[in-house]
Amino acid sequence: MNIVIIAGSNRKEATSTRLSEYIQGLMKQAGNQVSLIDLYLSPVPFYSPDEDHEDHQGLAKLKQAMSEADAVVLATPEYHSGISGVLKNALDHLGQEHFEGKAVLSVSSAGGSVAVSSLTQLHTIVRNLHGINSPEWISIGGDQRKSFQTGVTPAEIQPNVENRIQRVVGSFLELAKLVSRK
Ligand SMILES: Cc1cc2nc3c(=O)[nH]c(=O)nc-3n(C[C@H](O)[C@H](O)[C@H](O)COP(=O)(O)O)c2cc1C
Repeated sequence: MNIVIIAGSNRKEATSTRLSEYIQGLMKQAGNQVSLIDLYLSPVPFYSPDEDHEDHQGLAKLKQAMSEADAVVLATPEYHSGISGVLKNALDHLGQEHFEGKAVLSVSSAGGSVAVSSLTQLHTIVRNLHGINSPEWISIGGDQRKSFQTGVTPAEIQPNVENRIQRVVGSFLELAKLVSRK
């Protein structure tokens, strides 16, 4: 399968982005083609209904990748009990034509113990975009984020966190395969 991960932080050392890279590695190991679009490295312009930004290469790349994706992963930091403005802005550029009938896994990192608010918000947005929400999501919170600090290797990830992520990624890939018929 062709999977796109959108990492929705605007922070260089974001744990949600390091977690996205780890998930990308797991999905590749399972034989998938996985592109990671890091909105910190590839920012997209502020969405405006008055402008189409047709000449913006980063935005064109995002839309092209999303059109070709069989399944999608959306990752965000939890900000003020919601998703990041950077991710919401990127999603405002996209529409049902990018999500319709595709399995979507939501991922978040929070200062508190669980990132429920941003993950619930992502599920609402995905439903609006006609994506198929994975029944399980991935949340890292509090000290669990230490496993995804820059420079920490996959071998150093806390075993309980690693097991949970691997289980959810495995069940997400099964769902994605089922709905994409690939
Ligand atoms: C503007 C802002 C708002 C935040 N709001 C929350 C919040 O509502 N709940 C929470 O648990 N953590 C909150 N945090 C902490 C972040 O969720 C936490 O630092 C998280 O690990 C950031 O993800 P990142 O490592 O991918 O940047 C906030 C941080 C910032 C900068």
